Amino acid sequence: MDFGTFETLAIETSEGVATVTINRPEALNALSTKVVEELARVCEVLNQLGGTGTAASAALDGAWPVRGVILTGAGGKAFVAGADIREMASMSLDEGEFYARSMHAVTLALEAVPVPVIACVDGYALGGGCELALAADFIYASERAQFGQPEVNLGLVPGFGGSVRLQQRIGLGPARELIYTGRRIDAAEALRLGLVNRVLPTRDELLSAAAETVREVAAKSPTAVALAKRSINQSTGRPTAEGLTIEAGSFRAAFATEDKREGTAAFLEKREAVFPGR
Ligand code: CAA
Repeated sequence: MDFGTFETLAIETSEGVATVTINRPEALNALSTKVVEELARVCEVLNQLGGTGTAASAALDGAWPVRGVILTGAGGKAFVAGADIREMASMSLDEGEFYARSMHAVTLALEAVPVPVIACVDGYALGGGCELALAADFIYASERAQFGQPEVNLGLVPGFGGSVRLQQRIGLGPARELIYTGRRIDAAEALRLGLVNRVLPTRDELLSAAAETVREVAAKSPTAVALAKRSINQSTGRPTAEGLTIEAGSFRAAFATEDKREGTAAFLEKREAVFPGR
């Protein structure tokens, strides 16, 4: 895939894993407007996976050069230390809202990417950094990861999705407590709360574990994974009946795929499935 060139991001693709590294170590990878703009461009490319960009159309042409995305931060100290406080200090109301809405668009686009996105957090994931990680399918952390929504220390509130996605991920009580206190939690506490899926000792082990998970998923039907992701994301927060209608739509769409024909035939013929990804 051709991602283009970036000032604040480094992108590397290897064996079906695209690693997107936020690369502003001098500001602990804070999400400046430039980073937000560049993340939007990356998401646009990633949303072309599998076809024309939606899980439903992913069944069309079986184009899956990337089977998973790892999102991480450069510099060894932070995943992302938040929205850019220096830039925000002089923003007007309109500029502040635009900044938040631009990042909302990025997080929604990231959720729409039809392959798994894994945030690998080594160091600080604070404020906007925690919110960016929450838009990933799951979060892996190193033992020295620190999470928090410290916006109240700045007279701010979570602005990149934290008041919505944190409660979805860890429940209302713990989310309220983290947001009202601005408290930082370590990787063990984040694991206990269900904020992170796994904790690994070091950064290298973290990235290897994430790549291994991508490989595990890549052995499955990509159209099925994309449709499952769509069902989960679109039904989050909706009443059960509405969620089930969304699920029925994905289930129906799966019946239109060659992957479903191959997967069920392979089971009945007692052989390994070879999924065409269509
Ligand atoms: N924005 C801009 N610059 C930041 C930054 C941020 N969020 N976080 C760190 N930096 C910069 C620092 O200003 C510093 O730059 P200089 O060397 O030019 O002074 C550099 O990164 C290194 O940071 P520190 O010297 O502070 O490093 P430290 O090890 O002493 O502390 C830290 C690390 C505890 C993470 C501390 O940097 C910190 O508290 N950062 C801010 C965290 C925060 O409040 N994040 C939430 C932002 S608000 C938000 O995200 C709103 C939203 O939801 C949209």
